[in-house]
Amino acid sequence: MLKRLIKEEYVECGLDYEGAGVFASGGPAFMDYVREEGEQPVERRSFLHALLAGAVSLLGAYGAYVVGRYLWPPRPGSTGGAAGRVEAGAEDEFPVGAGKKIVYRNKPAWVIHAPFGFVALSAVCTHLGCIVEYDPEKKIWCPCHAGFFDLRGNVISGPPPRPLPSYPVAVVGGKVLVGET
Ligand code: FES
Repeated sequence: MLKRLIKEEYVECGLDYEGAGVFASGGPAFMDYVREEGEQPVERRSFLHALLAGAVSLLGAYGAYVVGRYLWPPRPGSTGGAAGRVEAGAEDEFPVGAGKKIVYRNKPAWVIHAPFGFVALSAVCTHLGCIVEYDPEKKIWCPCHAGFFDLRGNVISGPPPRPLPSYPVAVVGGKVLVGET
């Protein structure tokens, strides 16, 4: 469009558009100026291609990461790993009655020093999956529909249909460990 207008101006003024040396010898900046509207400079096009290639590469890398995580799950023993032991903390941190929420098998769990020993229980309510809370006064309770559990995970009252799943827990070398060896 722009190029056509310039050409018309040349013709109106009686100038030779085709023969105008300025067009024949126009440098890159000038040619960018007279480039048809909507047509993008080569540099910009290259930049957009590079940007697109970068985005596609990132997408591919993310896809490889997802597939890798699926094929090779996290190693046992890491926090929240699929199996193995997780360290809940030092034994000193758990006076009788104390509880700590941890991540075990990628889900929240409670480690509690009950009067009869350590327990580790899933913190996912067996009713509709809310996260249960613990305090020494109320024991273990679910804030969603007032479900209550004792310190072994058994249902005391409320709608939960099953006890909370429990996990092996042991004190080894002054550390409280949750999970199978
Ligand atoms: S989800 Fe826990 S009582 Fe309903």
